[in-house]
Amino acid sequence: MHVAIIMDGNGRWARERGLPRIEGHRRGAMKVESVTEWAADLGIDYLTLYAFSTENWKRPWEEVSFLFELFVEFMKSKIEKMKSEGVRLRIIGRRDKLPQKVLDVWDMVERETSDGKRITLAVALNYGGRSEITDAVKKIISSGVKDIDEQTFRNYLYLPDMPDPDMVIRTSGEMRISNFLLWQIAYSELFFIKKYWPDFEKEDLVGIIEEFKRRNRRFGGL
Ligand code: FPP
Repeated sequence: MHVAIIMDGNGRWARERGLPRIEGHRRGAMKVESVTEWAADLGIDYLTLYAFSTENWKRPWEEVSFLFELFVEFMKSKIEKMKSEGVRLRIIGRRDKLPQKVLDVWDMVERETSDGKRITLAVALNYGGRSEITDAVKKIISSGVKDIDEQTFRNYLYLPDMPDPDMVIRTSGEMRISNFLLWQIAYSELFFIKKYWPDFEKEDLVGIIEEFKRRNRRFGGL
């Protein structure tokens, strides 16, 4: 099973408590650690988390640089734990514009965790669904391949070996996809919950999976 999450509402969580926005992101990063553990315990094979979109560059530089700092610190401090728990990390997104230290950590965590078998955690960083599709088209053009169908197109996406998400969860009550995994979510079940990301709990994930099992996925059939 593949669960994809748009982790939204860190800023509002902080504002409602009179805290700076970055405090919400800090709590959000702590939740990334928890949700990875819950997902692994629940037998989820793939978890994709939207950490930074191609549109997030529009935020004030202090917030953008804090998010990169948080990513770097998180990965460095959790790498041993992730390795010992069988977490395989993949990062998806465009490498351009990212600071060198982020790119170094990107390469390091992918290399160090490549043997992880329990769960794959894909972190979307400087990620946009349209960018991913555009990048795929560029790769196809430069490869000279002329004959493309849906199956071969998939081979040019960032992680061709990863199955499509069974479900997409978005926290904070917003009901949008915001350029997340556009190709891959064609048949995903969508779940929107009101809670802000820092308040997301294991029972929320369990409840969504139970509802997912009750939904009848027909993939266009009867
Ligand atoms: C959305 O909340 C959240 C983000 C744009 C950043 C998500 C990042 C993390 C949870 C932490 C870093 C990730 C890792 C993998 C360590 P928002 O800021 O848009 O909230 P708002 O809509 O309430 O302002």
